[in-house]
Amino acid sequence: MTRLVAIINQKGGVGKTTTTVNLCHALAELGKKVTVIDFDPQGHLAVSFGIITHDISGIDLAMLKERTLEDVTLTVRENLQLIPAGSKLKDVEQMSSNGAPRGVLLRDALRGQLEDQDFIFIDCPPSSGLLVANALIATHEILVPMASDFLALQGLSHLMATVKRFEGALKRQYKLSVVISRFMSTRRISGQVLNILLLHFPNQVLATVIRETALLAECPSFGQSILEYSPKSRSARDFRNLANDFLENRVMTNDNK
Ligand SMILES: Nc1ncnc2c1ncn2[C@@H]1O[C@H](COP(=O)(O)OP(=O)(O)OP(=O)(O)O)[C@@H](O)[C@H]1O
Ligand SMILES: [Mg+2]
Repeated sequence: MTRLVAIINQKGGVGKTTTTVNLCHALAELGKKVTVIDFDPQGHLAVSFGIITHDISGIDLAMLKERTLEDVTLTVRENLQLIPAGSKLKDVEQMSSNGAPRGVLLRDALRGQLEDQDFIFIDCPPSSGLLVANALIATHEILVPMASDFLALQGLSHLMATVKRFEGALKRQYKLSVVISRFMSTRRISGQVLNILLLHFPNQVLATVIRETALLAECPSFGQSILEYSPKSRSARDFRNLANDFLENRVMTNDNK
């Protein structure tokens, strides 16, 4: 069974793309077959993997049924495929409905596809518009990267309201996990935010926290994941541990934090 996971948080800059790139590469390194969809018109995910071609087609044309998913899928690393955003993805966000349902375009594009993959990840944009609705309708599983500052917590209640709304409308519950994606151990607020998250998301916060490091901020400019840019660094270790948490459902409890 393929696990289809949306990486969402409507707050910008919390580490969605960084988590997607490095977690996916770590899973691929473990031998899992992984496909990532760049679902943000900014196209940062593709750039982070070193794909900087403009005018590339991607999930945009697959959703508009102008190309097959196979046509727009690129192999970027061993076991790792990328479906770029495509230059029309921003138009999909603004599309008028003309009576046709617009929220199911991604679900329909993925139906019966990529069945040999262990994981499909969707790197969502920082919004709660139509693209995120498409991701939430297509998936049953959500991974929420969280920065460890006060305003990130504020944003989380907004996100949870969106998730609950979709759960109500779709009459199903998501498997939801939280990853602490920008942890600063020298700041007291980081520990406080973590405690609050553990309270509100018991058994849902993945065991490994991703620490804030200069290396993680540097590697996108080289088009490399942290596993390539600095494979022995503690950030590479963080993401390898996170990949195992994800596979084994290892979560943080108040005792092991
Ligand atoms: N753990 C970290 N340590 C250092 N820098 C980080 C870390 N996580 C993310 N960053 C940096 O912070 C910036 C924002 O991260 P990223 O692009 O992953 O966030 P995002 O949630 O995808 O943003 P957006 O909402 O715009 O899509 C980037 O410059 C990234 O390199
Ligand atoms: Mg992003």
